[in-house]
Amino acid sequence: MCGITGYVGARQALPLALDQLRKLEYRGYDSAGVALLDAAGLQVVKSVGKIASLDPLLDGHGNGCLLAIAHTRWATHGRPSTDNAHPHTDCSGQIAVVHNGIIENYLALRERLEAAGHTFRSETDTEVLPHLIEEHLQAAEGAGEADPLAAALRATLREVRGSFAIAVVSAHTPDRLYVARRDSPLVIGLGAGEHFIASDIPALLAHTRDVLVLEDDDIGAVSPTSVTLHKLDGTPVQRAPLRITWDAAAAEKGGYDHYMLKEIREQPATIRDTMRGRVTPEGRVDLSGEVSLPAEKWRAFNRITLVACGTAYYAGYAARYFFERLLRLPVELEIASEFRYRDPILDEHTLVVPISQSGETADTLAAVRLARRQGATVLGIVNVVGSSIAREADQVLHTWAGPEICVASTKAYTSQLIALYLLGLHLAGVRQEGTHPLAEPLVGAMQALPALVEQALDNDRVVQEMAHNFTRSPDFFVLGRGLDYAVALEGALKLKEISYIHGEALAAGEMKHGPLALVSEGTPVICLATQDDLREKMLSNIKEVKARGATAIAVVKEDDTETARIVDYVVRVPRTLDELMPVVAVVPLQLLAYYVARDLGREIDQPRNLAKSVTVE
Ligand code: F6R
Repeated sequence: MCGITGYVGARQALPLALDQLRKLEYRGYDSAGVALLDAAGLQVVKSVGKIASLDPLLDGHGNGCLLAIAHTRWATHGRPSTDNAHPHTDCSGQIAVVHNGIIENYLALRERLEAAGHTFRSETDTEVLPHLIEEHLQAAEGAGEADPLAAALRATLREVRGSFAIAVVSAHTPDRLYVARRDSPLVIGLGAGEHFIASDIPALLAHTRDVLVLEDDDIGAVSPTSVTLHKLDGTPVQRAPLRITWDAAAAEKGGYDHYMLKEIREQPATIRDTMRGRVTPEGRVDLSGEVSLPAEKWRAFNRITLVACGTAYYAGYAARYFFERLLRLPVELEIASEFRYRDPILDEHTLVVPISQSGETADTLAAVRLARRQGATVLGIVNVVGSSIAREADQVLHTWAGPEICVASTKAYTSQLIALYLLGLHLAGVRQEGTHPLAEPLVGAMQALPALVEQALDNDRVVQEMAHNFTRSPDFFVLGRGLDYAVALEGALKLKEISYIHGEALAAGEMKHGPLALVSEGTPVICLATQDDLREKMLSNIKEVKARGATAIAVVKEDDTETARIVDYVVRVPRTLDELMPVVAVVPLQLLAYYVARDLGREIDQPRNLAKSVTVE
C-alpha cells in the first residue's frame, strides 16, 4: 500500500528513483509524485494516475540532481488527486515528505497546526508531517542540535500515532535524505558511494543485494557514503545488513504480457524451491535447521491457530484440513482482521501460525503481536525475507517463492500450501515416536508435485478457449467439498479481483440451503471434484445445478470420466493424493481468472482499488 523509493549518490537520482518506483507500482497506483533536490532547490512534481503520468511533467527536470524521493499512492485519506498525491511539503516548500501508512491522530494535529498558522493543501493525514517537522526544526536549530532535521523528525514522530514508513528531503540538508518507520516497511539498499531506499526489496535488486531493514521507531539519515540510524529517543542503532539472494530477473516480466501469467508458470520451480533442503535423503521432512524448538515444546502444543488474510487465509483453509487429518489436533483458522477483536484464547500450549506473502500485512502483524503477548509460540510462514512478520515471529519458515509482483497472488499461494504441508509433516515427526503412517506417502507425492503442476499448466489452451464464453457472465459460483472447498475459495477470489466478475465460493452441500435460488439458465458453476471420498456427493451437487440450467465447468482428476460426462466443460488435472490436490487443482482456476480478465481487457497485474502488501488496517 503506497510505494516509496529514493536515491542519494553520484548518479542521476531522478531516473533511478523512478525506475525503482515502477517496480513498486503493484503497491498502489492512483497517483504518483517525486521530490528532487537540484541546483534550483527542492522541487515537487506530482500527478493523478499511474507513474507514467509523471513523465511529461518531468521533462527538463532532474539534470544534475543527486537526491530524489518518489511515491506511488493507494488512497486512504482523501480521494486520488494531484493535491492529495505525495510528496507533501511544509509552508516554506523546503521540506518534502512521502509516507506509507496512516497517521491516526492527524485531525487533532492538523487543527493545532492550522491554529498556529500552517496552511494545508490536501485532505491527507500525511500533510501534518512536513508541517510538524517545520515547527520542530526551528526549535532544534535553536537548541544547537548537530543534525537539526533528524532531531525535528524524532520530535515529530514522537507526536504521531499510527503507522508510517516515511522519507524526507529538505533544502536545509541537500546531501542526505531521512527515513523512518513504524509498522510499515522500508529498506535501505547499500551501494558504493550511493544508497537507495524502497518499501520493498524487489525495487532494489537491480542495484544491490545488501539491505538494511528498518525496524519500528528507527530513524535514519542517509547520505551517499553513510547511513546513521537512531531510535526515536535518540539512542544510536547498529544494524547488520542482510544479503538478499533473490534473482533480479525474478522481479522482471521475462517476456510475458503480465506478471500474473509468469508467476503462474513459475509454480513448478517455486514449489521445488519451497521444498529444497527440507526433505532428507531418507524422505523425511526435517525443518530443525530453521525452526528450532525443543521436542517437548512441540509435543506440548494442544492447539494450532492459523491466522492470515485473503489468499493466505485460503491457504490456511487447506492447511486446517491437512493438519487435523495428520496431527489429530484441534486447528483454528482466523481472519487476521477479526482475530484480535475477538479476544482470542491463547496460551503457551498454542502454536500460532501467521501466513503472509509480504510479511507486512498490518492485520496479520497485529495478530502476531497479540499472540506473542499472550504467551503463544508464533511460527510465521512468510515469503519476504526481513519483513516485519519474519522478524517478529518466534520462528520463521520462508516460502522461497521469490518476488511476487502481480497484486493477485498465485505462486505465493502454492508455496504457502507446500510450506504448511512441510510444517505439518515436521510436527507429525517430532510429536510422535517413530514415523507417522501418512508421512512417507505424502512426502513421496510432494516430490512429484512440480511435475504434476507442469502437467496442470498444459491445460492453458483448453482454459483459454473456455474463458471466451464467460466474459459476459455477471456471476460465477465455485463449488467444492472438503479440500476442494478451500480451492474454490481461492478460485473465486482470483476471479473477483482481476476480472471484476462476481465469484462466490460455496461448500457444495450448502447450495440447497439457499444459494441454489441464484442459479438459472447459463449461470456458470465451477465444480471441483478432486477428492475421491467426496466425489459421489459432488456428482449429486453438479446434477442439482445442472437441473436448474447451470453451465457446469468441472475440474476433475485425469481418470474421472464419470464427472466429465455430465458437465459442459471439463478440465483434467493429474492425480495425486487427495491431501495434495489443492496444489494441482488451483492451477486451472488461476488460468481461468487470468484469461477471462485478459479477454475483458482488465489491468491484470494492478487491479482497480487493490494493492499488494496491505499495510493499513
Ligand atoms: C489476493 C491477495 C491478497 C493477499 C492478502 C494477504 O490475491 O493477494 O488477498 O493474499 O492481502 O497478503 P499477505 O500474504 O502479503 O499477508
